[in-house]
Amino acid sequence: MTHWPYPYWIAHRGAGKLAPENTLAAFRLGASHGYRMFECDAKLSSDGTVFLLHDATLERTTGASGLGGQRPWSDLSLLDAGTWHSPEYAGEPPCSLAALARFCLANGHALNIEIKPTPGLESVTGQAVAALAARLWSGQSRPPLLSSFKPEALAGARASAPDLPRALLLDAWWDGWLQTALALQCSAIVAHHPMYSTQTVARIQAAGLRCLCYTVNDEQAARALQALGVDGIITDRVDLFSPDAVPVGRGQSAPT
Ligand code: G3P
Ligand code: MG
Repeated sequence: MTHWPYPYWIAHRGAGKLAPENTLAAFRLGASHGYRMFECDAKLSSDGTVFLLHDATLERTTGASGLGGQRPWSDLSLLDAGTWHSPEYAGEPPCSLAALARFCLANGHALNIEIKPTPGLESVTGQAVAALAARLWSGQSRPPLLSSFKPEALAGARASAPDLPRALLLDAWWDGWLQTALALQCSAIVAHHPMYSTQTVARIQAAGLRCLCYTVNDEQAARALQALGVDGIITDRVDLFSPDAVPVGRGQSAPT
């Protein structure tokens, strides 16, 4: 991907911790703070619906028990994904990828879909998420960016929708990470932000990849990463960072 069509600032899980993660309420709140790109976590229900859930299990964000991926969407869609956060959001339902796509496309927002497979379902989840994303964004000039910590998920995504851009997520520089990203024809690396140095940013960009980071929640860290020349920042702090405060430089989009 020579042209990078994405904003610099990306709101993590919709609006970080200010609203229940991965719900439409969160994406609306992130947008109300001026954010024009969002990160979400996507996995498969037992009957093949792509829906948003960070954890493998339902306990933390819905109060229900067990693996989210073992329930059909008809059950999942009736859960309460808001009460755990605060009474204000009681009754907020889980969100499907199709619903989030409608919101993003209607409002001109960009999306980073993190493929977050239920353990053991890496390849099939990558295939399904990418196939659905290709359908939902068909004919759109700016496709969603698909990312994953799991190379098998990215391989599945490439198999079913090779034209959608991919990014390898990293929480450590494991052996062969760059070769893996290049073999998967990734467009970007998205790394845990303290991992970056002048050398690693230069190595990634010299290989033709963009350099993004998660999850940056303080101003000092953000300034340091901007000085290193990263191409994008994922943040929880939609209330702290203005998405219009973009240092325009290599690979970065000017505010639109
Ligand atoms: O996609 C960036 C970030 O969301 C990866 O970590 O655990 O917050 O999904 P996590
Ligand atoms: Mg994520």
